[in-house]
Amino acid sequence: MASDEKELVQKGEARLKWARDRMKVLGEVREHLKKKGNLKGVRVGMALHTEAKTGVLAETIHEAGAEVCLTSCNPLSTDDCVAAALRQSSGIEVHAKRGQSQEEYYDSLNRVVDFEPDYVIDDGADLIFLLHTDRKDKLEGVKGANEETTTGIIRLRAMAQEGVLRFPVMSVNDAMMKHLFDNRYGTGQSTFDGIMSSTNLLIAGRRLVVAGYGWCGRGIAMRAKGLGARVTVTEVDPVRAIEASLDGFEVSPMAEAVEQADFIVTATGCKDILRKEHFERMKSGCVMANSGHFDNEISKTDLESISSSVRNARDNVIEYSLAGGKKIFLIAEGRLVNLAAGQGHPVEIMDMSFALQAMALGYLLDNHEKLSPDVHPIPTDIDEWVARTALKGMGLSIDSLSDDQRGYLCGWRDGT
Ligand code: ADE
Repeated sequence: MASDEKELVQKGEARLKWARDRMKVLGEVREHLKKKGNLKGVRVGMALHTEAKTGVLAETIHEAGAEVCLTSCNPLSTDDCVAAALRQSSGIEVHAKRGQSQEEYYDSLNRVVDFEPDYVIDDGADLIFLLHTDRKDKLEGVKGANEETTTGIIRLRAMAQEGVLRFPVMSVNDAMMKHLFDNRYGTGQSTFDGIMSSTNLLIAGRRLVVAGYGWCGRGIAMRAKGLGARVTVTEVDPVRAIEASLDGFEVSPMAEAVEQADFIVTATGCKDILRKEHFERMKSGCVMANSGHFDNEISKTDLESISSSVRNARDNVIEYSLAGGKKIFLIAEGRLVNLAAGQGHPVEIMDMSFALQAMALGYLLDNHEKLSPDVHPIPTDIDEWVARTALKGMGLSIDSLSDDQRGYLCGWRDGT
């Protein structure tokens, strides 16, 4: 092996070890699945952001006996050291590479389809979509899937609604132990990891606009406030807008918010949130980033159409020069800032999310024949098991109900 390849592998191994040593909930699931033994010989195709925590999930499923084929679910989110380390020694087939063109990205997804998976683990539903469109030839063999993220679940529900979804999908995203922590605290922290490491700019005292007040937007706004930013939230949902206001944030339409913005972060799951009319009203120096799954929240087509020049300002930051000498900046080509410019969610958060993924795979194995081709919730007992195991790992104890109290909560006669 060439010396720089060796260095890459060593770096990847260290990152995997760092994550593995701290993913204790997933470690318990690994032992449970190994003991159960029913993953032996099962083929699992994965399209997940290929970085250290994902590597530990892939190893877990492989160690439990499955054959695993992994690629990324985003052309810019692969950690090449981790991919190299997994390729070198794990026995897992890895196709992910950072900086893939759209064509290379789909080539890699196609390699996972060629692997003929029995089960699929997806993030954003590109792999499941491919199996239902261009690669229907391999659809028949798939018994079920897990989906990681809000955007994927929205796509899959639309497919189920139209009656085109052909296998059951477990909605990992909707489990309490996923979206309450991963979407809120995970995205909250990792978004700033990406923004701060790519720009090295001060957040305190600056005006930061968050587009969308779902679980991700809530987390981003909360962390921005903690860093000392003055925060404005934009929304289309009146209930969420009131929630943002009562949480202490300014609320205004995007067209007004952009005029004061030093930073704008999109986290809506919708397209064209920032477009020509907004770019034209921004202050010079404004920095834009996207934390939603797809790179269509900030219109690069509009940005390019009104720019006299486009250049790399520094690693991961593109400068657009507009009329009158105004310059505005885009991080990581508008792709998920926390993975394309940062290291993804914190290890402890992904421990809980990926423990759910591994448990949901075990559940699918046992139950796929009984499940309709639809989007299914993670059973409450799995969610609660992950919560109790994580809580124990945090060294926290809680109270429990007496039989009398449980009876009181379930009954209706005992009102006084
Ligand atoms: N690391 C692996 N998958 C991730 C995700 N969906 N979001 C953030 N970090 C991740």
